[in-house]
Amino acid sequence: MTKMTEFGGIKLDVSATEPFLSAAELDAMAPAVNAAAAELEEGTGPGSEYLGWMDLPETITEDDFQAIEASAARAQKDSQVYVVIGIGGSYLGSRAVLDALRGMETDSRTGYPEIIFAGTGLCSSMLNRVLSKCTGRNFRICMISKSGTTLEPAVAFRTLRGILMEKFGSTEAARRITAVTDGTRGALRQLADSEGFETFAIPDNVGGRFSVLTPVGLVPLAAAGIDVRAVVDGARKMRAACQSTELRNNPAHLYAAVRHGLYTRGFTTEVMSTFHGDLQTIQEWWKQLFGESEGKGGEGIFPASAVFTTDLHSMGQYIQDGRRNLQETFLCVRNAVSRLTVPSDDSEGGNLDGLNYLAGRTLDDINWKAFEGTKSAHGAGGVPCTSLEMDSITPEVMGGLIYMFEKAVGISGRLLGVNPFDQPGVETYKKEMFRLLGKPE
Ligand code: PA5
Repeated sequence: MTKMTEFGGIKLDVSATEPFLSAAELDAMAPAVNAAAAELEEGTGPGSEYLGWMDLPETITEDDFQAIEASAARAQKDSQVYVVIGIGGSYLGSRAVLDALRGMETDSRTGYPEIIFAGTGLCSSMLNRVLSKCTGRNFRICMISKSGTTLEPAVAFRTLRGILMEKFGSTEAARRITAVTDGTRGALRQLADSEGFETFAIPDNVGGRFSVLTPVGLVPLAAAGIDVRAVVDGARKMRAACQSTELRNNPAHLYAAVRHGLYTRGFTTEVMSTFHGDLQTIQEWWKQLFGESEGKGGEGIFPASAVFTTDLHSMGQYIQDGRRNLQETFLCVRNAVSRLTVPSDDSEGGNLDGLNYLAGRTLDDINWKAFEGTKSAHGAGGVPCTSLEMDSITPEVMGGLIYMFEKAVGISGRLLGVNPFDQPGVETYKKEMFRLLGKPE
């Protein structure tokens, strides 16, 4: 029986996990996976107050789209730089989609502001670089924080808002700030209402890492000129595909089942590998989604990532031959946009590098062979490999991929017996840091 499912330009191939998890063992997981999915659909189980993400592709309205597009049009008209301030779930999703779609950029995309991200840490040189990019240019700020109190974005916002006010005066500065935050509560909501910033509300029932399809992800993406309707449409189609109770016809169910089955057999780290540099931020978003959702109560698959072929020259050794607790998921792109080929060199002594046998072949074709060779080598080395192969990277495919991972992690949390929608562990470091900083109670 085939162990592959294909949907919306995304193909999930689990055939190389067979030596480690047989078809019968995989099949036997279907009832548990269906039960977990049913719990999510019925809105029951731990964290059920945070299941709003499931319906986002359906509940977004024409008015929502128009408000987001109008905000984007204003930014495109008056700004060369659009600074997105946020951390964790408040920026990783939009950045991931934006970076993934970079390969689609052509000259016809000029006229959109440069999107830069700030507030993603406390490193002064990073913030300095953002400030330099804003110097002498017209810019806007999109401040994203559900709680409105997170330290890193708050520091960046205070700094950048000060510069905006100095440059434009307080009235125009307020017009150049968009706040994406809680609908009624929190410091940012209060400030936005009192200063008259443009605002977008984050639904109460959607947690940070599940918020890409809310204004958290869609406002910055629209400002960058991404077709957000297509992103949502891809998610809507994937949502429909993820209703099937046939394990192999449901990409989220199949992915959740395979990785969980491998986890229970000792494959406790999942490396997401890609041969496509533009997907590096999707890996980061995926690590947050899975790490924060699963890693609790002593449970959870540790999510790691590698970008090949460069990491084959570093992490490749460990993956091939280190401790055998690794499972690997390849995120691949079949048709990249660029058609760069290897040049022929017929000059005297020109083939000293021995590359003429590749002359005329596209880099992407060679890259694909590198993927196939690596998958085969890692499998032979004892790493169960799954691959998620995309025909090409489009806004629609990105929306589908996001929804598929979200659904899979919801199911996975249920299979692990943890609440996948909270993150109590992230408070511990904050308490220590604030104590050291002398934060008033
Ligand atoms: O997934 C999460 O909930 C976190 O990553 C948050 O998004 C992150 O900590 C930022 O929080 P906030 O949006 O409240 O500033």
